[in-house]
This record gives sequence, structure tokens and C-alpha cells, in this order.
Amino acid sequence: MQLSRLINNLPPYHFADAKKKIADRQAAGVDVISLSMGDPDLPAPPAVLERLWSALQDPVNHRYPEYRGMYALHEAIADWFEHRFGVQLTPERDILPLLGSKEGLAYAAQSVLNPGDIALIPDPYYPVYVTGSTTLGAQPYFLPLREANRYLPDLTAIPAEIIARARLLWLNYPNNPTAASADRAFFEEVVEFAHRHQLAIIHDMAYAEVYFEDFRPMSILQIPGASEVAVELHSLSKTYNMAGFRIGMLVGNPQLVDAVGRLKSNIDSGIFRPVQYAAIEALQLPSSWLEQRNAIYKRRRDLLVEGCNELGLQAEKPQAGLYVWAHVPTGYTSREFANWLFEETGVFVTPGTNFGPAGEGYLRISITESEERLRLAIKRMREALRK
Ligand SMILES: Cc1ncc(COP(=O)(O)O)c(C=O)c1O
Repeated sequence: MQLSRLINNLPPYHFADAKKKIADRQAAGVDVISLSMGDPDLPAPPAVLERLWSALQDPVNHRYPEYRGMYALHEAIADWFEHRFGVQLTPERDILPLLGSKEGLAYAAQSVLNPGDIALIPDPYYPVYVTGSTTLGAQPYFLPLREANRYLPDLTAIPAEIIARARLLWLNYPNNPTAASADRAFFEEVVEFAHRHQLAIIHDMAYAEVYFEDFRPMSILQIPGASEVAVELHSLSKTYNMAGFRIGMLVGNPQLVDAVGRLKSNIDSGIFRPVQYAAIEALQLPSSWLEQRNAIYKRRRDLLVEGCNELGLQAEKPQAGLYVWAHVPTGYTSREFANWLFEETGVFVTPGTNFGPAGEGYLRISITESEERLRLAIKRMREALRK
């Protein structure tokens, strides 16, 4: 079989490879502690499961769903968004439910980019920003995220000839993998920049609802004029421990929301209705559910950051998200250290370079394991490093 150039140029998806590596070691009898994926280990809320179960009983929900999602789900998303961010969205115009936010990232990019255009991509990045941009022939231009600049891209460093060909700016705060957050001043700057240079912004906000202490990540749509240039992606995967349900949403600029809806309806046939009912239930949960869940993550974050610092893997406490971004000890590359750690301890973490060259020198460590397992991971790391 002769495959297309697109497929021949497409690298295997890192986490698919990682899952295989883990499974191989487990088959060999190793107790692997996987701190590599941001895959919530805690269960989805009971009310969500009940709603899913009751919706499953109705045969009408076994038929093809609506291409662009049920109106009731659009309404629930609009209510949630207004309650959470103080921004009013028009349910059918400004919102598109998705089969998880990942597909929406790729489709949103493909809806604005033409071959030869440039996509401005922060480095390190979530891999879909690159594949979503390049599969149709656009070119990436990477904006390094540096610790010294609080992991925000320096827009003033982009050459004029690059900006002239750029059509799209990717953003992701709370950030994966650096665990950084952005403030209002930054969002104001990027919205102004996008207006000035006629760019579209895709803001990936998959970690909007995993936050600690008094910090609340803001939506780019809170900035006046943002909906003229930006869309934002949200996900129930991390927010409500519903990663396996595959449900998320695109919100913001109505033209781009409509474009993604058009593209998707030509490719897939919508979201299983019981999952949409479950999502409505989740979006209507009291904030106490999130507070309790985030308190569990906070304890894990503290334990892991303190453990990393004790071991010389210097790390700061993130304000939001599911990751700790730790320094690799001197003398190792990120990949060498991550491989060594896996060999010696069975603790699987992700080298920063899996997210782009600017990730060199760092490891991304996930907090989606219990405190007990995190303690065991730190203990094993301490023993291996001592040797
Ligand atoms: C930054 C970022 N965006 C998007 C996603 C995709 O999430 P979803 O499960 O909604 O497709 C992830 C998942 O890990 C992520 O880390």
C-alpha cells in the first residue's frame, strides 16, 4: 500500500508510544508509576454517571445525535461560561460541542490556515498545535517560552516578515507542559496584537478548572474585542474527570465556530447523546465539587514539588493545571534523565523535549496519581539518586 505524503511525514503520537513502553515494562513485572499523562485518576462525579445511565435507557438516544450538539448542551455551556467568566455567549452562534477539545484544536487551525501560511506556535507545545497547523501545508514558527519571561511568548521578537505571513497564534494557559499561567495584561497584549496583524487566536484552556488557592485562570474572551479574533477550547476531560467520555467545546468567534461545525459535520456524526446529557449534569454541579477535587490535587502538587526540590529537581508550585515542570539535574539531557529514571525506578515522567526543543532541561511530571503513589515515586527516586 502506498501511503500519502501527509502520513509518511506524520510522526507517531508520543503518548501512544509511551503507553506501549509502560505496558511492556508492566508485562515484565515492573510496578510502573506513570506520572506522564494528564489523565485524571479520580472518578467522574456520581451525578454525571446517573445521568449517563438514565439517558442510556431511552432508545431515542441510541439514534444519530445532532451534528452540532443538543440545544440544551449549548445552553448549559453558555450558563456555565457566564457563571465562571462573566462572559455572555449566544448558545447556537458562539458554542460548538466537540468530541473532546483535541479534535477542535486541529479543526480550528485547519479552518483558518492555507498552504504557505505561518502558524505562530509557542515552544514547548501540545503536539496537536503543530500537526493541526502543518497537515494542510502551513508552516510553524516557534515562539520559545522561557522561564525568565514567565513562560509567555515574546511577541516583540517575531520578525516583521514572519508576522506578515502569519495567520494564526496558538496560546495555552494554564500551560501544558510548563504549568505557567497568564495574566490579564498578557491577554490584552495578544488581543491587540491579533487585531493589529489580522491574526486568529486559538486559546486552549483545557486546564481552566484545575486551580489552587485563590487563583482563577481567566478566559481570553473576558478581554474586550477578543471574540472578533479568538476562539477558546474547553474540555470536560480534566475539569470533571471525564477524559474517557470525550467531550469538550469550542467557544468564541462565531465565524470560526461555524466553520469548525461545517468541517466536523462533513467528517463525524456528533456526540453520543447520553454523553451530552452527562456533560449538562457536570456543568451544573455546585462549585463545592470542584473545590473538593482541587483540594486533592493541591495536596499532591505540594507533595511532588517539595519532593522534587528535595531531590535537586528544582520546581515551582504551579497556580493551576495537572503538572509540575521540574529542572533536570546538570549533566543530563531531559530524555537521558527520564530514561534513566524509568530504568532505575519504574517512575515514568515526560522529558520536556517531547513538547519541543525549548523543553530541554525540564521534565513534566503529572499529579494524576494518589498521594501514596507519589510518595512511593519520590522514595524510589531518592534511593536511585543516592546511588
Ligand atoms: C493542553 C491540552 N489541550 C488539549 C488537550 C485535549 O483534551 P481533550 O481530552 O479535551 O481532548 C489536552 C490533553 O491532555 C491538553 O493537555
